[in-house]
Amino acid sequence: MELYIHFPFCRKKCAYCDFTSYANCSEALVFSYLTALKREITFAGERFPNAVIDTVYLGGGTPSLMTPREIESLFNKLRSAFKHFGPSEVSVEVNPESATDEVLSAFRDAGVNRVSMGVQSLSDDNLRSVGRVHDAATARAAAARIAKNFDNFSLDIIVGLPYDTPQLVREEVGEVGELAPHVSVYELTLEEGTPLACAVAEDRVWLPSDDEVAEYMDIAADVLSRGGIERYEVSNFAKRGFECRHNLGYWTREEYLGLGAGAHSLVKTDAEGKALGAEIRFASPKDLNAYIGGINCVDAFDDVPRADMQVLTEADIRTERIMLGLRTREGIEEELLAGRDFGRVERFLKRGGGRVSLTDEGIAVMNSVLAEII
Ligand SMILES: C[S@@+](CC[C@H](N)C(=O)[O-])C[C@H]1O[C@@H](n2cnc3c(N)ncnc32)[C@H](O)[C@@H]1O
Ligand code: SF4
Repeated sequence: MELYIHFPFCRKKCAYCDFTSYANCSEALVFSYLTALKREITFAGERFPNAVIDTVYLGGGTPSLMTPREIESLFNKLRSAFKHFGPSEVSVEVNPESATDEVLSAFRDAGVNRVSMGVQSLSDDNLRSVGRVHDAATARAAAARIAKNFDNFSLDIIVGLPYDTPQLVREEVGEVGELAPHVSVYELTLEEGTPLACAVAEDRVWLPSDDEVAEYMDIAADVLSRGGIERYEVSNFAKRGFECRHNLGYWTREEYLGLGAGAHSLVKTDAEGKALGAEIRFASPKDLNAYIGGINCVDAFDDVPRADMQVLTEADIRTERIMLGLRTREGIEEELLAGRDFGRVERFLKRGGGRVSLTDEGIAVMNSVLAEII
């Protein structure tokens, strides 16, 4: 089983961000949140006493804002709550301005063996335009500190930011690819209701066109591949052996538990570890007070109030297997497509060894290919 733990606090909210994250929160609120989170971890350990925890991912928000004491206490709780806690991969998301030597050592001492940092861009104009707290020099210095402490780490870049050019993308992706064995390159998503979406709607900010963004993505894939960093998922690139096992678990639909505000879970087993005969997806409330209040008023995992719960049908499961599996280099089992020929999108599919995956061209037009297949 995979564990995702959410830390929803940030120093400042970035203009494009729609993740469950809150800025300017009091220490008292952070304390109440972490207390509730540890209570939910205890409930989860009781509900899944036989779960073998393969991977842990502490995401945010900004987990590097945690103090060394908070980090130690959170990981001690995980170790005491789960009997079979010996994950091979323990990842944590950090931000450049708070990834200090002290915090990185605390994570390493707590058992973290993989770090993922959001660089987003190496252009100060870009960083300022979306309200990032750090500049490019701060991100470079933090990457060097991470490299000193961890062999396995990842750097994130967003393409489609206001000041992107082909030359900038080539240089920044080339630079992060020389530093890290794993790079994520995301196309900017303009999330409804964010300050960036408002600024674009009011013509105060201009973003690159879809064609330009597609070109940036091609440049990124090309630059990384020349450095031996290969695409293994639409937005993820790694040297062999450095693929993120936790995220691969999502795309292959392993069972996972998401603990903390706004976190999602996919549960397939009962307390004995036997198949439930159904697959259940659920999420926790995003609102901090609703999350904390919900945890504090119950005594067992199954009674925790959820924001969303869905029992998946066979058809849902098949659709998810196709949509998630086709994002990856390994693709899906051919039988999921029931021997069908997809006519005009067939040229975007690679078939072989009983599996189907997308060609490089297919990845660029993935949404249209999926719409045709499903
Ligand atoms: C969960 S976020 C948190 C990471 C961390 N707090 C940070 O800001 O660096 C993980 C990654 O998602 C990406 N991301 C967040 N919002 C995005 C958006 N609207 N469009 C594209 N990528 C986004 C960023 O690259 C970010 O590093
Ligand atoms: S620091 Fe990360 S999680 Fe926080 S608002 Fe910015 S992108 Fe979102």
